[in-house]
Amino acid sequence: MKKILLALSVLVLAFALTSCEKETIASRASKKGLDIGTAFGSDIFNPEDQERIKEFSNILVAENFMKCANLRPNAKFWNWSDIDHAIEFAQANNIQMKFHTMFWHQQNSSFVSNISTKEDALAFMDDHIKTIMEHLKGKIKVYDVVNEMFEEDGSFRQSKWYNLIGEEYLAHALTVARSCDPDAKLYLNEYNNECVGYPKADAMFNFVKKLKESGVPIDGIGMQLHLSTDLPFNPDAIRANCRRYADIGIEISFSEVDVRLPASKFNDEAEVKKQEEIYTTLLDIALTEPNVKSFIVWGMYDRTNWVPATFGGYGNACIYDMEYNKKPVYNALFEKLK
Ligand code: G3I
Repeated sequence: MKKILLALSVLVLAFALTSCEKETIASRASKKGLDIGTAFGSDIFNPEDQERIKEFSNILVAENFMKCANLRPNAKFWNWSDIDHAIEFAQANNIQMKFHTMFWHQQNSSFVSNISTKEDALAFMDDHIKTIMEHLKGKIKVYDVVNEMFEEDGSFRQSKWYNLIGEEYLAHALTVARSCDPDAKLYLNEYNNECVGYPKADAMFNFVKKLKESGVPIDGIGMQLHLSTDLPFNPDAIRANCRRYADIGIEISFSEVDVRLPASKFNDEAEVKKQEEIYTTLLDIALTEPNVKSFIVWGMYDRTNWVPATFGGYGNACIYDMEYNKKPVYNALFEKLK
């Protein structure tokens, strides 16, 4: 009898502890099987920000730390310390990590500009992939292997890699990456690629389909989704695009979500509401299209957000305001995850 009573009290206590656990965006998303999170910078080393990150994220991605110029400032030196510390924090808090990005046309170290032959470009790519994936083996769930490979008209971007190697640089990078870590998911990441019918989106889909059909290892694509309240938002075209990728066995990350406002409308209620609707509609698509695996915002804070420096006259794109208060959109996302 005593033993039964003891077992019962343990059960009651366990139940009480579980039900007392604070529900967060991260915990709700985890229960629904969705990876949710943010890009981070040095905020990841600040205790207050760490609490906000834990509340929001079950996956993280470096806004800049993993890019060539930061990770490998010169040919010989690899700057692992920020990344290793960020991964330590993530692992201690049961948060996954996405790698952004192995190859891009921006933020390359100056020594990369000396690469001028196909042979050297391939040698650099192989060394870059192998060194990164050996160092991080088992610690990264998803890699953005290549970022932004298309132009708006659907042609290939004239990046160094394309110009020296040709279109096959993409298949090459994916193949080498798979051989280095067969358990990691390999993605190609892009912007303005979310809507069926847009030239860049259609070109990317057709290219990824061709890669799949020819046996090149690719698991997914990223739709960055840097959106603006004063541009058309077409959720049906986004959903249709997710579905055609599902049909060819490709998963999707909503990889860099933010929704900027024109400065003249920062205090316009209707515009703020529109921003909230765009965020929550995207989350709804992520929750209801099974091949959408993650919803990642490109930084949580208006104060440090990249938008104003790039799009003059725009801002307020994030889920925390300039004073680090949660905006109503934060709570709307929390509610959507109920
Ligand atoms: O680290 C240097 C610092 O030493 C220097 O004093 C300072 C002076 O400007 O610059 C610092 O580097 C900046 C870096 O962000 C870190 O803050 C670069 O100038 C700046 O260009 C860089 O901007 C980043 C941008 O990519 C680079 O193109 C943004 O933070 C980052 O949000 C943005 O992220 C991209 C994604 O990778 C791909 N998709 C689009 C997205 C937005 O552009």
